[in-house]
Amino acid sequence: MRELLAKLVHGLISRREFATRMLGLGFGTMTVESILDTPAFSQGKKRSSSGEPGGAFRVEPFSGQTPYEQWMAREGVPVHTGYYIRDVRALDLKPWPRLGVRGGLIDLHGAEGTDGAYLCELAPGQATPPQRYLFEEGIYVLDGEGETFVWHHGGSKRSFRWQKGSVFSPPLNVWRQHFNRGQTPARLLSVNDLPVVLDLFHSAEFVFDNNFVFRDRYNNEPDYFTLNNSKLRGAGSAATFGEAERGLVHFLDTGFVPDLNRVQLYEARSRGLGNKSVEMVLSDNSMQVHVSEFEVGTYKRAHRHGPGSHVLVLGGIGYTLMWTEVPQYSGAPQQVRVDWTEGSLFVPPDRWFHQHFNSGGTAAKYMATTWIGGKYFVKALGGGGRTHRLNNVSFRKGGNMIDYPDEDPMIRAMFDQELTKSGVNTRMP
Ligand SMILES: [Fe+2]
Repeated sequence: MRELLAKLVHGLISRREFATRMLGLGFGTMTVESILDTPAFSQGKKRSSSGEPGGAFRVEPFSGQTPYEQWMAREGVPVHTGYYIRDVRALDLKPWPRLGVRGGLIDLHGAEGTDGAYLCELAPGQATPPQRYLFEEGIYVLDGEGETFVWHHGGSKRSFRWQKGSVFSPPLNVWRQHFNRGQTPARLLSVNDLPVVLDLFHSAEFVFDNNFVFRDRYNNEPDYFTLNNSKLRGAGSAATFGEAERGLVHFLDTGFVPDLNRVQLYEARSRGLGNKSVEMVLSDNSMQVHVSEFEVGTYKRAHRHGPGSHVLVLGGIGYTLMWTEVPQYSGAPQQVRVDWTEGSLFVPPDRWFHQHFNSGGTAAKYMATTWIGGKYFVKALGGGGRTHRLNNVSFRKGGNMIDYPDEDPMIRAMFDQELTKSGVNTRMP
């Protein structure tokens, strides 16, 4: 019993598991409940993996809100919405009981219930409580430096150090705990598939209080959170086959990337002139990350696909046009222009054409995290699979890409005008 109490205090077992095991040892319900209700465990109560001090969150059926929307409303932190966020580094945060630090949720229109995002900020010396949950997340370090510990239930801990520019993913349902190891606030952005997971199972207890161990994804391998050449794969899945870029693509298959700005990129001409990229699958996830860089004086081809690709700008200055229905931007019923720089986040909505322009004096780089990626193909759910198909094939051939000669003339005129303002010469033919 003493061992169970210690585990409960340190967050190594949930309140529910504690109760189950105590009952299994022959203790009565009244005894177990009185232990859990004592002030000595109030901290453990607040830090329970379900994050529900007053009992489990129950999804309301027949509701106008999805289970994920209901969950967001209950978390007590700001929910930032819209088509884009100008700078996630400056976004308003509030104390978040679940994480023990300040945080906020991001629910952009273009996500459409596929994937979601949250921010958290650890003050110097602060740490999050141990947590585990049954959704995947890719975490990008916006500012600061720190360390994360991960461990399987009852297993030994492994840690890795991160800093601004790092990206990592605690594997699915492992315990994780983040520490700020620097002198300034450390701000993290998580893009995750909690919306689709919670909407499918509509049980917070299943997602936040689940004992299943995915040893196939992570088995405490010593180099899991190290980036080396063995992590680079030439590979693809059904999601990437059958497109114009048939064959192998460069995949980084790793739990951790220390600095995205130092990752080698590979030429990807089908995406646009002067474009380089690499694909990443973090921690054997179904989610996928794509890093893309395009040179000064260039812009990418317009294309469209399914919802949920969260585009985070890592550097450079430019803008993105997003529009509905027709290839001609000026004739579209709905148009949105996103002016971006480092820290901007936006999600092109389902089947909206979108086109990225570098209008600044340096190369522009972004990271796009998509809810279903290229290592595992989830045919029904789409994401990087079905709904992203043919986005490198011209709409003239039945695809979802607009080649340069086919684009609305105002696209080039607007770009030239923007370059004139920044004193940059075009490199477009
Ligand atoms: Fe796209």
